[in-house]
Amino acid sequence: MICLGIEGTAEKTGIGIVDSDGNILATCGDQLYPEVGGIHPRDAAEFHAQHIVPLIQDALSESNLTLEDIDLVSFAKGPGLGPALRTIATAARSLSQNLNVPLIGVNHCIGHVEIGKLTTGATDPVTLYTSGGNTQIISYEAGRYRIIGETLDIAIGNCLDQFSRDIGLGHPGGPIIEKHALNTDDVVELPYVVKGMDLSFSGILTSAISKYKKGVPLDVICNSFQQTCFAMLCEVTERAISYTNKDEVLLCGGVAANKTLRLMLKEMCDEHYVDFYMPPMKYCGDNGSMIAQVGLLAYDEKLTGIKNSYINPKYRTDQVPVTWIDHDFK
Ligand code: ATP
Ligand code: FE2
Repeated sequence: MICLGIEGTAEKTGIGIVDSDGNILATCGDQLYPEVGGIHPRDAAEFHAQHIVPLIQDALSESNLTLEDIDLVSFAKGPGLGPALRTIATAARSLSQNLNVPLIGVNHCIGHVEIGKLTTGATDPVTLYTSGGNTQIISYEAGRYRIIGETLDIAIGNCLDQFSRDIGLGHPGGPIIEKHALNTDDVVELPYVVKGMDLSFSGILTSAISKYKKGVPLDVICNSFQQTCFAMLCEVTERAISYTNKDEVLLCGGVAANKTLRLMLKEMCDEHYVDFYMPPMKYCGDNGSMIAQVGLLAYDEKLTGIKNSYINPKYRTDQVPVTWIDHDFK
């Protein structure tokens, strides 16, 4: 079976084509870069509307397939921005109707985990999913991907982006902050907020902006930002390994591009004799192939069709019955 997946939960439009033997046949995407400020949901929706059709054409030519070869259409139902989700759901509905093939809506966060497993060979990892809109520690347990830790307020990527925008460095902030952070080893104290398995980033954001405005050099603030946020992520991931007794860690989401974060996590994993995995960057950030892969895994006639194709902007990772993993598998 060949599935075409449509991603568009935020500002990235992604089309992926994957087959049920686990071959990724095409991954095409484009991203909205706002001229000022953050992402407006209406602009993201408009961007998807303009890019979905050309990207489908790109994906077909990348895979040497035609529309007639597609057996299943999947799309991200959520979590994400309402207008963006409605646009990709509409595109997915029309495509499936036109091709007369089944349609299935899937969970975006589970897409990150499953494409991570497919592209790295990890089998049962503790996943650290760090992006602009999400920060979750995910682990499979008894029929669900459980969120065993998450941010209580904003996501790590959003925190980096907002800091960068507020002090006039531009968007997206992650790569800009990483560049400045590498210029120094000095740090100043920022609020370190881990509550059990959960994290909070909003206090760090306020404090970093205030310290920068009081004269702490930019490089030092950026380094402190990274050291504090990433140490928090390492702490909860470390506790997740100990709690679940798993021996694999999978890092995914756009913030995985950060070399300091990778090094810190890898070091922590080495100390515990745990294997550290990270997909190629193309599959770390939002992409259509992760949606196609979950479409194939979750495919069940009962879940398909227009009546099931509603969107859910607050779709939780642990709301999805994971039917494709053997319950006895540990
Ligand atoms: P999601 O819908 O899953 O929340 P997203 O729309 O945020 O995803 P991604 O590509 O997964 O998209 O992640 C983008 C985030 O990654 C941005 O917040 C950006 O600042 C951050 N990022 C990108 N490169 C780096 C880097 N080198 N260091 C830290 N953060 C980075
Ligand atoms: Fe994502």
